[in-house]
Amino acid sequence: MSKIEFPAKALFICNGSKCGKHKEVRKYFKNTIKENNLKQDIEIFKMECSNRCKSAPIVFFQPENEWFEKVSLDKAKKMISTIIPQKNS
Ligand code: FES
Repeated sequence: MSKIEFPAKALFICNGSKCGKHKEVRKYFKNTIKENNLKQDIEIFKMECSNRCKSAPIVFFQPENEWFEKVSLDKAKKMISTIIPQKNS
């Protein structure tokens, strides 16, 4: 039996009718993960509406099991430092 490999972390970004309007948030996370060469560490998934539309846009982060609401571009920039692994330099 073959085993499917998945990154240890995942960002689920709502793509429902309310959250999906905020394409800049998903684009920011996608570009930042790519620029930091973290595609093997963090995967981005689009998710369906989770009935939290009043708090749009919604981002769900695993494995921390954290839900983030009203994720603006500024909030996404603050979130990213806790989400991406800190590189030792
Ligand atoms: S559209 Fe995102 S929670 Fe409903």
